[in-house]
Amino acid sequence: AEAELETGFHETIEHEQRIEPRDWMPDGYRKTLVRQIAQHAHSEIIGMQPEGNWLTRAPSLRRKAILLAKVQDEAGHGLYLYSAAETLGADRADLTDKLITGRQKYSSIFNYPTPTFADVGVIGWLVDGAAICNQVPLCRSSYGPYARAMIRICKEESFHQRQGYELLMCMMRGTDEQRAMVQESVDRWWWPSLMMFGPPDDDSPNTAQSMAWGIKRHTNDELRQRFVDMTVPQADALGVTFPDPGLAWNAERKSYDFGEPDWSELKAVITGHGPCNAQRIEQRKQAHDDGAWVREAATAFAHKQKETA
Ligand code: ACO
Repeated sequence: AEAELETGFHETIEHEQRIEPRDWMPDGYRKTLVRQIAQHAHSEIIGMQPEGNWLTRAPSLRRKAILLAKVQDEAGHGLYLYSAAETLGADRADLTDKLITGRQKYSSIFNYPTPTFADVGVIGWLVDGAAICNQVPLCRSSYGPYARAMIRICKEESFHQRQGYELLMCMMRGTDEQRAMVQESVDRWWWPSLMMFGPPDDDSPNTAQSMAWGIKRHTNDELRQRFVDMTVPQADALGVTFPDPGLAWNAERKSYDFGEPDWSELKAVITGHGPCNAQRIEQRKQAHDDGAWVREAATAFAHKQKETA
């Protein structure tokens, strides 16, 4: 019977149909999905911090309202993704515990500081731009709840990307100091944005199996290339440059050649040694502890409702 179920699973994948929560699935498939979805959820939640840093100091009411909406969207994405992980049998409290005790990862990109307001624009443009590049293909992921979550998330990410670009255009029309601030921020975020796509294909242990299962649709390097090709013309339009002397149009490949990111930096950031790792986890832990009374009250209320029902 197990062999039959396994055949059914592979047929579903082959026919580009979706695996749903109640379907049989191999343990490895479930484990890989929980790993990726949990990391993704954690990234959204931790990702609220670098920009949240500017909420109290946004330069105008309009910028503050936009930023507030954006940061709230990230919280929504995180909760949406935790729900998708729950359909695989994962427990949300357990996932949070694994995050704050360093047993599960979140995106490397959120371990960099945001010292200037231009960072808000550059995160929208480059970081959310990279996120879209990576996540639009995930709308076709083989696991139904994950793929469906991605549709809404990508729509909101597109709004985030545009607000970032619009903010930068506005600053580029401003003073020399503002233009310099944008360029300085782009210089800091370019390489970390390329690293978001993960290690190069020949050093990516999970890609082959995840592609075979239809969890991932493209390799890390394919998506990185796509991102570079999409972003270089946007930089030209904006009037900024990327800090890569190797960046050049390759007419033969009809793509941009670009330099090699410093992979030792990615390794360091992923293993907890980035500039802000400790601060991010500490703040997440603090927020979780501060919210204990809310969880307790909600649980007590739910019990009470059950009793009186
Ligand atoms: N940051 C942190 N960890 C990373 C990163 C990164 N940028 N890239 C790779 N890793 C980790 C992987 O999670 C894996 O570790 P693990 O086995 O302990 O989980 C290891 O490095 C090796 O990498 P891969 O074999 O390439 O791993 P994988 O196939 O999972 O690919 C990727 C990584 C591309 C990030 C994939 O998981 C993915 O597409 N995730 C969904 C998108 C996502 O999480 N985005 C979050 C950031 S964007 C945002 O939210 C705004």
